[in-house]
Amino acid sequence: MMINLNFPQSIKIADLGCAWGQNTFLTMSEIRVKRKGSCFVSGVPGSFYSRLFPRNSLHFAHSSYSLHWLSKVPQGLEKNTSSVYITTSSLPSAYEAYLNQFQRDFGTFLRMRSEEMVCNGRMVLTFIGRSTLDDPLYRDCCHFWTLISESMCDLVFEGIMSASKVESLNMPFYDPSKEEVKEVIQNEGSFEINDLEIHGFDLGQSSGNNEEGGAGEKEAKCIRAVSESMLVAHFGDDIIDALFNKFAYHASQHAGCACETTVTLVVSLNRENNNFIRNCPCNLVRSTSLYVASLHHHSIHLSDENIYDEIKHLRCFFNQKLKP
Ligand SMILES: C[S@@+](CC[C@H](N)C(=O)[O-])C[C@H]1O[C@@H](n2cnc3c(N)ncnc32)[C@H](O)[C@@H]1O
Repeated sequence: MMINLNFPQSIKIADLGCAWGQNTFLTMSEIRVKRKGSCFVSGVPGSFYSRLFPRNSLHFAHSSYSLHWLSKVPQGLEKNTSSVYITTSSLPSAYEAYLNQFQRDFGTFLRMRSEEMVCNGRMVLTFIGRSTLDDPLYRDCCHFWTLISESMCDLVFEGIMSASKVESLNMPFYDPSKEEVKEVIQNEGSFEINDLEIHGFDLGQSSGNNEEGGAGEKEAKCIRAVSESMLVAHFGDDIIDALFNKFAYHASQHAGCACETTVTLVVSLNRENNNFIRNCPCNLVRSTSLYVASLHHHSIHLSDENIYDEIKHLRCFFNQKLKP
């Protein structure tokens, strides 16, 4: 990677969706331990579905368990009332709505990073996905959103939660298949896939009866950690303890289940260097790219390296001319 990056003096790395607390430092401390030397760290507020860093500045971008969160709940889920997410009983339109939103969001994420990353920069993304099955609506019985939906149903039955509040809730989440991820990357076109792997996903189901509590409790804690703030915003905080007690119970009923549809997807990407002209920041270089386009029009074809040299020469030329 260092050879491909021309041995830069400093390497700029971003961890997108780093959370707060202990997890925030996991990736960066790992990198720091391996590479001694001075290091400047900063936190950048904002959504990774928007621009966060200067153009052509990042050498390596990483994101762990964050990209399955969509920028918003997709439109068109009014009829998806029996569950907070896609289940076997959802309409195909629910799947289409979720897939469309994922395609839009992940495509935007790639486009934003393509502007921020240097040519040949690398990106490693880890997120929740599903193993490919013929039925895109199928989620196994121990899927965490299915268990949340069942827990909510119990609380509605007991008169603790309002049915209409439960029916109107849908998670801004999508677990894409490997093929769906590949398609968005290829359609967006800025990154080349080095590797795309599927790994197991375990929220503690396989070690339910350990010192952390009874079967299901570990899973309840994990799901509570990632969803509590969203659920409180929708229902208020009075029902949260009761909801996750129910969740732990339902999860315990599936303690022996091997989770089949939920997987971890890990994709390693390389920033291709074929569209830097699109990203050139200043008008001067944009007009230079018009000049290059005109060379192309006259069948004078240049490789990307030649175009880059051409732009550098023209920049020097204009800079000299424009000096007061
Ligand atoms: C499950 S945590 C993962 C935290 C950490 N990366 C890890 O692996 O332990 C998901 C994180 O993604 C962040 N996140 C979700 N959507 C985001 C967005 N659009 N922009 C930036 N961060 C986002 C959340 O705030 C949360 O901190």
